[in-house]
Amino acid sequence: MKITWPFPRVVAHRGGGSLSPENTLAAMQCGLAHGFHAVEFDVMLSQDGVPILMHDEQFGRTIAGAGAVPTTNVALLTTMDAGSWFGPAFIGERVPTYRRVIQFCRRHRIWMNVEIKPAHGVEQATGTAVAAMTLAMLEADQAIPLLSSFSFEALMAAKLVAPEIPRGWLVEHIPADWKAKLLELNAVALHVDQTHLTATTAAAVTKAGFGLFCYTVNTAERARELLDWGVDGFCTDRIDLIGPDFA
Ligand code: G3P
Ligand code: MG
Repeated sequence: MKITWPFPRVVAHRGGGSLSPENTLAAMQCGLAHGFHAVEFDVMLSQDGVPILMHDEQFGRTIAGAGAVPTTNVALLTTMDAGSWFGPAFIGERVPTYRRVIQFCRRHRIWMNVEIKPAHGVEQATGTAVAAMTLAMLEADQAIPLLSSFSFEALMAAKLVAPEIPRGWLVEHIPADWKAKLLELNAVALHVDQTHLTATTAAAVTKAGFGLFCYTVNTAERARELLDWGVDGFCTDRIDLIGPDFA
């Protein structure tokens, strides 16, 4: 039996898609300004074990200079400029903690797809910390978030500390053992790279009763095709082209 997808269908990728510096509060504001109350973002641990929003383990792209997230403590990370790389309007935009982003999303009634993005070697610790904080800060009147990760180990750790927070397993290509893996995680969904999805593989997942989520869908034509194949939801960088009510 196919599950009824209980989550939003169109989600702003990394906060505000390609219109703002990813994984910042400015990105969340940008998503909101485009009418999005559903957001995906990436969470990593600082050296001292605090969840912060970040995609890359190494500095150099969204954070200037050399260095890395897992060898930098949160006090320093949260002073770092995560906006300049994007453009002068965002100079001084800081790296936010996950805690601050949860508070922001709660205040603005934004649903969260929290991608657990562990640095190499700290998969279990990251899954544990992110899931524990998600659970601890969840309020009764808040939409239940969806945790996702490419790291099976991180998701297993999340399952252990917060079994009631739903999980989705992220994959680039759907592996042969996908169903066994989802069952082991007790996951509600498979999150796949849309470029490798076909109508046949989509049908296999949905017929097995799992939710199917795609990243990252940036044209209306492709979004329509995926929805026709039974895809339940997707995230997009083009929040200016694909609105929250598209599906
Ligand atoms: O969660 C979907 C998507 O964000 C996964 O890829 O690299 O953008 O985090 P990435
Ligand atoms: Mg992501």
